[in-house]
Amino acid sequence: MDLLSQVMRLPYAKGLWARLPVGRVDLKVQYGIYPRPHYAYGVYWAAYLASCIGIPRITAIELGVAGGRGLVALEAACAEIGTFLGVKIDVVGFDAGEACRRQSTTATYPTSGTPETTRWTRRRSEPSCNLPSW
Ligand SMILES: C[S@@+](CC[C@H](N)C(=O)[O-])C[C@H]1O[C@@H](n2cnc3c(N)ncnc32)[C@H](O)[C@@H]1O
Repeated sequence: MDLLSQVMRLPYAKGLWARLPVGRVDLKVQYGIYPRPHYAYGVYWAAYLASCIGIPRITAIELGVAGGRGLVALEAACAEIGTFLGVKIDVVGFDAGEACRRQSTTATYPTSGTPETTRWTRRRSEPSCNLPSW
């Protein structure tokens, strides 16, 4: 077992790392350091596959964003992962819209559509898109 794996077995190691803006993106995904580790994991491997087969741009979608905390976490993870892997990742969230309207803290997410249709929110991350060297 390598040193990092041993350190990560210590209590609070993960929480401490999550507070610090350090570490390689792939290791942060591996050790579940992102606020929504399952989001980061899925995005990482989707972007990794895209980079391997030469797809320069993908979209990460959250179905049911509710108050938007997951969408914010997804966007942050996508920005880092996209830059790391050289894949542009657009982030899109869908929701019926009720929770988005109730929570004024998430008013930065514009909603559109009619009450009968699913409202959608959309934010874009704009990392630079450099194709991986490998
Ligand atoms: C449990 S919350 C999602 C929490 C969010 N994903 C997170 O991680 O913070 C479920 C959300 O799905 C939305 N939802 C459920 N069914 C839906 C549908 N058929 N169309 C659109 N949104 C839907 C609800 O409005 C609600 O906001």
